[in-house]
This record gives sequence, structure tokens and C-alpha cells, in this order.
Amino acid sequence: MVYFKTLDDFNVKNKTVIVRVDFNSEVDPQTKQVTNDMRIRAHALSTLKELAEKGAKTVVLSHQGRKGEPDYTNLEQHAEILQQILKCPVEYVDDLFGEKAKNAIAQLQGGEILVLENVRSWSGETKKGTPAQQSETELVQNLAPLADLFVSDAFSVAHRDNVSMIGFTAVLPSAAGRIMECELKQLNKVLENPCHPCVYVMGGAKADDSLEISKYILNNNVADNLLLGGIISQLFMAAKGIQLGKGTMDYLEKKELLNLIPGIHELLVNYPDKIVLPIDVALNIDGKRVEIPVSQLPSEHPIFDIGTKTVEKYVDIISNAQSIVVSGPLGVYEDSAFCYGTKTIFETIANSNASSLAGGGNTIAAIDQYRLTDKISYISTAGGALVEALMGKRLPGVIALETATETKKFYAIPA
Ligand code: 3PG
Repeated sequence: MVYFKTLDDFNVKNKTVIVRVDFNSEVDPQTKQVTNDMRIRAHALSTLKELAEKGAKTVVLSHQGRKGEPDYTNLEQHAEILQQILKCPVEYVDDLFGEKAKNAIAQLQGGEILVLENVRSWSGETKKGTPAQQSETELVQNLAPLADLFVSDAFSVAHRDNVSMIGFTAVLPSAAGRIMECELKQLNKVLENPCHPCVYVMGGAKADDSLEISKYILNNNVADNLLLGGIISQLFMAAKGIQLGKGTMDYLEKKELLNLIPGIHELLVNYPDKIVLPIDVALNIDGKRVEIPVSQLPSEHPIFDIGTKTVEKYVDIISNAQSIVVSGPLGVYEDSAFCYGTKTIFETIANSNASSLAGGGNTIAAIDQYRLTDKISYISTAGGALVEALMGKRLPGVIALETATETKKFYAIPA
């Protein structure tokens, strides 16, 4: 259980509120234009709208990309998108904690929103430290004296001890924003209080964390079944001793995944009934879908999807679930010949009566593509942070909020 204060605990009218959101979005590497505004929309329509409506002077902090990477940009267009979504003026200033930023903050009126420059434009942002150490930095020392409250809304960055995530919590009254609050409540539901049978569907190409997540949810009786697809299922099949074929094994080796095999093997021995692997697969043979039972492997052709019989088996298990967590597509869903597994499983999850939580970039894109968004109980805004939380890790951004709540229990902004 996580204890933290929320926007309900503070009167923000005419108060200066620093809000750390995660506007980090997909951008076109050439034009640098945001191509998916899902995260901006989520913060806008919850925390930022509420603060503006309650008359706060809102100062928005966020990162976009990593310096030197193609998705690194300033936040001018994010402020414009925010303005379009909220249909109210949003100011942007190309400064983070210099005179320009401080003057813009000083001039804010109740109900107005100001977006500051990308926090990662300042190299100190990503240096490691405790909340107390991060509170000594230029960013916090310059901005905190101008603010009455810090609102942490960027759950998807809560796995980072970045200055803007944890530094303000050491010196300002702090609260979780609505996105942070919602994400933590949902996570609490699926990790600490899942309705059983609880089914985890794990797929996708990022298999690095699959062992640690599986270990945590199985050893702690969180999941009753783990249904696997994507590269993760291939790694687990290899750990079971199934001969997949040279190309597939070379791929797993290239991705440095083979070192996970002994740990996965042990897990398969300990949980032979809970971990469910494909019984048939769809091979990509010159662009065509050809299904074979797993017993007919190895194959020189790559595995691009789970097979029809596997889909039937997974649908059956999902239909009896009371709660479902889904992370990652079951195959190469972008290719219409190999989307069957992902589409059918995701539709089954969406149409089931179980509570469902989905997270991760490709998962959300697939859910969106199949127009299932409204039928999933909760879609997390997070990628890496969700993965770390599912591995049972405590996230620095959440610890900082909890600590702030403990130490400043009676310290609220005067009405
Ligand atoms: C994310 O997209 O997962 C968050 O915005 C964190 O981004 P980062 O991995 O660059 O810290």
C-alpha cells in the first residue's frame, strides 16, 4: 500500500503549483513533430484541467526525449497541443530556471498555465541522488522558493531519481497528481489485491525483463497464469529445451537474452502449470503465414505469431479470469498476416468481464488500432516504470512522494 497526499488535500486557489508531468511523446525523427499526444492529453484532461479550474498558477515541468537522441526537442509544440486540448491559453517560455522563467512564473495569474523548457536541457536533471541531494540543485533552489506546492504526476518517470521528480518533495508540500494517483491505485489493485484467477499476458520483443517480472508475480502468487507470446515466448520455449531453429536462436543471442535461460528453466520447473507456452506457431515463409505445431519445430523460418490452437487455449484461460494484465503484442501485429494472435487475444480481454490493465507503447498502439481503448479497464501511461513496478521494485518517484507525506503530515498550504 502506498500513502500519499492528493489534490484533494490542498487548496490551490491563487497558489503557485509546480507540476511534473510526462509529456515525453513519440516524435517524427525528421520533422520533430509529436505523432502521438496520448500522454499530453492524459495530463491535460485530468490534473492540469483541475488545477486551472481551481484557480492555481500552474508551472509545468516535463522532459521530451534524451539529449542527443532523435526524439529530443523543446516543449513549445507540447504547450501548443496542451492549449488546443484545454482550449485555454497556455504560455511557453524557452527557459527552465533563469530570469526569463522566474519572471514568467511571477507574472502568472490564478487559472493560468506556463510550460517551462525541457528539463533535460539542463544536464543536472538526470544526475543521481536522494531527494535531499536533488533539492540542493540549481533547478530546485531557483524554482522552489517561487512555489507553494509540488505535484508529482509523472508516474511513467517514477522509476527515475531525476531532480525534477524527487528534488521538490524534500522542500515543498507535495501531492500526487490525478494520473499518478490513478496509476498507483490501479497497480495496487493488480499487484497487492488482484482478483483471482489473475492472468498475465506477456508478449512483445523486449524480453530482458521477462524473467524478473515472471519470477515476482509467480513467487508472490500475484498471477495464476502467465500466457506468453512474442519473443518472450520464444525465449521461454528455448529454456524448455524446444529446438526453435538457428535463425531464432541467433536472434535471441544477438539480443543477449540467452543468459536468462537458466533462470527461466528453473521457473518452468517450479511452475509447470502456471506458465503457458504456445502449442503452435505461425511461421513467416516468404511473407506468408504458415502454421505448424510446436512439435514440428525447429524451422529455418522466423516465428511471427502464436498459432490458432494456442489462441483457442489462451482465450479459454482468459475467459475464466477475474483480472488481467497485458503487456506486449503476441506477434508481429503490424503485419496483417501475423496480427491474428494479438487481435483475437486483445479483443477477448476487452470483451471479458475481468478488470484489465494494459501498458507499454506497442500494446497501447495495438489496442488503439483495434479500437478497444474504451473496453480496457485501465491503460497505463507508463512503459519502463510499469515494468519496474511489475517486477516488484519500489520506484524512487513514489518513495519520494510517500516520504514527503510522512514528514510533512501537518504541513498544508494555508487556505
Ligand atoms: C518513458 O517514456 O518511459 C518515460 O518518459 C521515461 O523516459 P526515459 O526512459 O527517457 O527516462
